[in-house]
Amino acid sequence: MEHTMDNAIHSMKDKVKATYARIEELGLESNIAELEVKGYTVVPPEKVAEASHVAEMRETLLQLAREESEEFDKDSNFRPGFSYTIWYPIIRQSVFARNLLNEVALVLSRYLLGESMVLNNSLGFVKGRTSDYYRVHTDSLMIPEPLPSYTQIVNCSFLLTDYTVDRGCIGVVPGSHRLYRHPTPTEEQAFDMLEPIEAPAGSLLILPACTWHGAFPNETDSLRVALVQAFSRVHIAPSIDRSLVTEETIQQYPPQFARLLGRDLITGFGTQGPDMSKYEKMYLLQRDKFA
Ligand SMILES: [Fe+2]
Repeated sequence: MEHTMDNAIHSMKDKVKATYARIEELGLESNIAELEVKGYTVVPPEKVAEASHVAEMRETLLQLAREESEEFDKDSNFRPGFSYTIWYPIIRQSVFARNLLNEVALVLSRYLLGESMVLNNSLGFVKGRTSDYYRVHTDSLMIPEPLPSYTQIVNCSFLLTDYTVDRGCIGVVPGSHRLYRHPTPTEEQAFDMLEPIEAPAGSLLILPACTWHGAFPNETDSLRVALVQAFSRVHIAPSIDRSLVTEETIQQYPPQFARLLGRDLITGFGTQGPDMSKYEKMYLLQRDKFA
């Protein structure tokens, strides 16, 4: 009897080869090891982006914050100890849209989430002086326990200023990605668990949403600035409204830009129903480890 295998298994060998070759080309082998063992990794600036691009993103975020609020450097618009947040920067300025295609962020995120991953969130953070820690938490918002053993959401934080403890850097709990749960109310305040992420401007922090993290107080008058692009698997509800990115913007970039913005998804349809030409491809994702 003829033995049949589905296409996903047939193509797996080639996909594994291509994925590993790209990781080697970009010199990210140790970052993959850190993601597996520690539950997070920091990529040094020279592997991430040009210094001029980092400076442009930093200055543009600060300009947006200044235009929005006279108090942006004194207060959070969310919770004590949190940063002032600029919502959805990628539809505000092209420098952020361009950054969506950062190759290192895409390769490491796709390693964790599969080829079909989509943009879930877009945030800019500016943190001024604060005496508050930000509580230990996961970014697996509204996901009940046990959290799955595969990654569902990944935060890519482009650090746009130097990150140090006294400037209120983020801190992570190494190994917590394997607890598959959220911290308890007591653990949320256990700041001695946090390993500070001290890294120079231009570094990229890759943080799976299930990894516990919080932030230190900023004891200086130096602002801490970061751009966050979060990716997720296709079944996770997006934080941003991806349909707000215009066709005009999408046409300016290669096809993967449209895919990252969910333009290949069959969900979100109206009375005319889903685009059935995309259905088969989406259905097969569940069989494909690299999808
Ligand atoms: Fe968080």
